[in-house]
Amino acid sequence: MKQARIIGTGSYVPEKIRTNHDIEQMTDTTAEWIVARTGIHQRRIAADSQVTSDLAANAALAALEMAGVAAQDIDQIIVATITGDYPWPATACIVQNKIGATNAYAYDVSAACSGFVYGLANAYNAIRSGAASKVLVIGAEVLSRIIDWGDRNTCILFGDGAGAVVLEAQEGDCGILSNHLHSDGSYLELLYQPGYGSCNPLSAKADPGSLPYLKMQGNEVFKVAVRSLSAVAQEALDAAGLSTSDVDLFVPHQANRRILEATAKRLGFTEEQVYINVDRFGNTSAASIPIALDEANRKGVLKDGDLVLLDAFGGGFTWGATLLRW
Ligand code: UT7
Repeated sequence: MKQARIIGTGSYVPEKIRTNHDIEQMTDTTAEWIVARTGIHQRRIAADSQVTSDLAANAALAALEMAGVAAQDIDQIIVATITGDYPWPATACIVQNKIGATNAYAYDVSAACSGFVYGLANAYNAIRSGAASKVLVIGAEVLSRIIDWGDRNTCILFGDGAGAVVLEAQEGDCGILSNHLHSDGSYLELLYQPGYGSCNPLSAKADPGSLPYLKMQGNEVFKVAVRSLSAVAQEALDAAGLSTSDVDLFVPHQANRRILEATAKRLGFTEEQVYINVDRFGNTSAASIPIALDEANRKGVLKDGDLVLLDAFGGGFTWGATLLRW
């Protein structure tokens, strides 16, 4: 059976930088508090003219170029996002049109910050079953448009960006080894966007308490995130009969530096094994893992045959890990 191997990565972040000092001017917080509690120094913000599919298309084109694959040769496009261009149709269809991937079918995955690993699992299943031979998986978000910049509980964390990978069916030992996905819908109200949907339709002129901004009970999310990220990463290693020391690069969802460090410590990773860029981009939800992966790849950190562990957690709650041979 053929492997599903990543043969190209790409990413795109908007030019505009919003620093913690900028945020001090917008809400009741300090740059020192933000750095101490999150490790974030700055995040990128999309220009008014940019939408999620623009970021996604830029990341996708960079990944295709690295892979040496023409857009027309892609069979399937999966976009992981919670900030699509429209409630529907899928942003993946808009990306398909923008990059000219005329032979691909396209759909979105909605699993919040875990969306990219959910998308990878779908790509793996499509390739392993023989249904596809080249798949584009993209994580893209313009979270700045669903953030209340006056809410200090949320606005300090998030940023905009996109990352993409091209997977190809290949013979050999390299590729995705396993996917481990979980959800628990009982945590809905700790992290969600109350409007506008069938619960809170735009037509009902929802009450002010239900404005369509992202809502989060950060400290409660924090505890479950560390627990779940550690457990699912361990599950992936156990399934392969491997241990933390076998991993060349651990790429966790860039939620908050304290979450990453607590998770890495629980699992026994050294600082050198863990990829962190949350300081520069904040939490970009579904885009965070593919942006980090692309950075690591372009810096030459990843070598053929390296063992890479991706680990994500997000609203839903959803969480998951992907173990792969680079
Ligand atoms: O992507 C996956 C989903 N999201 C996450 O993983 C996010 C998880 N959570 C977090 O990253 C953290 O919980 C936050 C960074 C959001 C908050 O950090 P925390 O250490 O959990 O702070 P806290 O909410 O427990 O608040 C501690 C104190 C409170 O004051 P009192 O009650 O102790 O007097 C807050 O009112 O800090 C206060 N506070 C702030 N102060 C200055 C909360 N936000 C701020 C702020 N600036 N921005």
